[in-house]
Amino acid sequence: MTGGGRGIGAAVALRLAQQGADVALTFHNNERRAEEVVDQVKAAGRRAVAIQADSADPAALTAAIDRTADELGRLDILVNNAGGFPVGPLEQVRLEEFDHTVAVNVRAPFVAAQAAVPHMRAGGRIITIGSMVADRVVFPGFSLYAMSKTALTGLTKALGRELGPRGITVNLVSPGATDTELNPADGPNAEVINGFTALGRYAAPADVAAAVAFLAGEDGQYITGATLTVDGGFTI
Ligand SMILES: NC(=O)c1ccc[n+]([C@@H]2O[C@H](COP(=O)([O-])OP(=O)(O)OC[C@H]3O[C@@H](n4cnc5c(N)ncnc54)[C@H](OP(=O)(O)O)[C@@H]3O)[C@@H](O)[C@H]2O)c1
Repeated sequence: MTGGGRGIGAAVALRLAQQGADVALTFHNNERRAEEVVDQVKAAGRRAVAIQADSADPAALTAAIDRTADELGRLDILVNNAGGFPVGPLEQVRLEEFDHTVAVNVRAPFVAAQAAVPHMRAGGRIITIGSMVADRVVFPGFSLYAMSKTALTGLTKALGRELGPRGITVNLVSPGATDTELNPADGPNAEVINGFTALGRYAAPADVAAAVAFLAGEDGQYITGATLTVDGGFTI
């Protein structure tokens, strides 16, 4: 999985390990945090490896996936989690920021799928972390982020169609506000966000991980091309 050292990715790594998976996780800058998750996965009785790979670098991402299949012996589940969260008025979005966001949030899941599928057998799973902003945008300044996350819906549906005959499912998990360093539950917009959320609170990373684990497990085997929204009712 990409970006497993903290936040939603760390919760997914631990949950999948508890469900019986060996886990390879990438990190960008934060090796110590990634190694802490590796230790937790090992404490749960599974094998784990942390790999430095900037998702903006397709060669590094592909090498990380090949190394995963090599070191763990197989590749059954790809979780595209790493993502940037650029926010700002339209006129202030720089082209470099546009290109970097598209590289990390959109191109990386595409490239990772290209790299992972040759290693997968029937029963394989591709699960990408989108965002509820693909469905509803309540704050200004989200043009770049919402655009990037909405692209993942098309990728998920098209790959679900293409890879179905090979027994590989492809799904999107669409979280609402989730308490991580990217979007802390005590951040400046939290009160407004909670007001829009039917359940009145942020998700915990484990809430999102539970949806990923469901799609990754036996019970998710007939679901493909779908979006599973985990937003506490924000978009209803
Ligand atoms: N939190 C929310 O409210 C929320 C809501 C909807 C969707 N999401 C989505 O959920 C995903 C995870 O979000 P989060 O809240 O857990 O974020 P986070 O706390 O900021 O953690 C991001 C993780 O991704 C890694 N990462 C970031 N950029 C990377 C890159 N270029 N290459 C490789 N790894 C990279 C980070 O690695 P390092 O530690 O090495 O930097 C870190 O492990 C993202 O796709 C985000 O858009 C989050």
